[in-house]
Amino acid sequence: MTTVHDPAAPAASRPPFATTRAPGHVVVSDVPDATCRIDRERDFSGCTGLPRAGAAWLGSRRMERDDAALTGQGIDLDRPNPARMYDYYLGGAHNFAPDRALAEQALSVMPWMREAVRANRAFLGRAVRYCFDQGIRQFLDLGSGIPTVGNVHEIAQTLDPRSRVAYVDNEAVAVAHSTQILRDNPNASITRADLTDSATVLSAPTVTELIDFSQPVAVLAVAVLHFLPDERDPASVVQAYRAAMAPGSYVVLSHVTSDHDPEEAANAKNVYQRSANPVHTRTHAEITALLRGFDLVEPGLVDATRWRPDESAEFGENIEHAGFYAAVGKIG
Ligand SMILES: C[S@@+](CC[C@H](N)C(=O)[O-])C[C@H]1O[C@@H](n2cnc3c(N)ncnc32)[C@H](O)[C@@H]1O
Repeated sequence: MTTVHDPAAPAASRPPFATTRAPGHVVVSDVPDATCRIDRERDFSGCTGLPRAGAAWLGSRRMERDDAALTGQGIDLDRPNPARMYDYYLGGAHNFAPDRALAEQALSVMPWMREAVRANRAFLGRAVRYCFDQGIRQFLDLGSGIPTVGNVHEIAQTLDPRSRVAYVDNEAVAVAHSTQILRDNPNASITRADLTDSATVLSAPTVTELIDFSQPVAVLAVAVLHFLPDERDPASVVQAYRAAMAPGSYVVLSHVTSDHDPEEAANAKNVYQRSANPVHTRTHAEITALLRGFDLVEPGLVDATRWRPDESAEFGENIEHAGFYAAVGKIG
């Protein structure tokens, strides 16, 4: 069953996007003659049939800009959001002008940002396949993002349609689009929650209906823990999930670092200060500490580009380091 669980929202407002036009509600309208490709081209080059300004896209549906209503749903259109900036780097279309403007600023100080993000995304794919090969058939994806190519359920369910995937994100556009693409998928769900609230995530019906924590599970925290400052104690957050994971489970983690290019990373961090979710880079030692209690599989915590690269890995020409450290750990 594909459902949305939003513990913060009143029941009447679930799912978060209304399907009919009504005052004070976000509009989601059928647009049969409009198409939108999620690909690696920039801007809205893949979209046809509708004006670009002020609209985000939900597959073949359009989410129109309605400031008051969107704000009511937790979307601040004027504040760039890293989830939507990430979507922009990947060539998606679920982003607004302020997101694109700040993303371009980040690209101007860190020109290989786009390649870094793609390398992170490629790591995610390889790590999911690795976990699958180890027998994992259930995945909890924390900070799953705005769906783009190579989502966890697409990878795992292509390998075995019975694979179960529970996504968690706290960003409204990510949740809305996930809801759309998962609505006919009985083995996948999206939960709108803050991943630091592990008790809520682990008890959400949308998670527990799919994930049996008495069996091995892969918990993903890919490109998300750097949004948690030290004060939010990301190590304890990871440990809270670890405590719920059965022996034989895996954690899949990636995290931005400034180890390789401190100056560029500092400049990019400054750009992200102007976003809704500033970034906190960490060193190799600090990220290793987040993985306490897990046995890291070979090659350990390394550049995302260097974690078991395969022939499908595309890292681009500009990238020497991924800017992300990545690892997969196991509970023995
Ligand atoms: C950079 S994207 C990564 C998406 C995907 N994991 C990937 O690596 O391709 C980070 C996502 O984490 C989400 N996020 C950030 N902080 C979060 C939190 N505290 N709880 C849940 N989701 C969060 C953002 O909304 C965003 O969609």
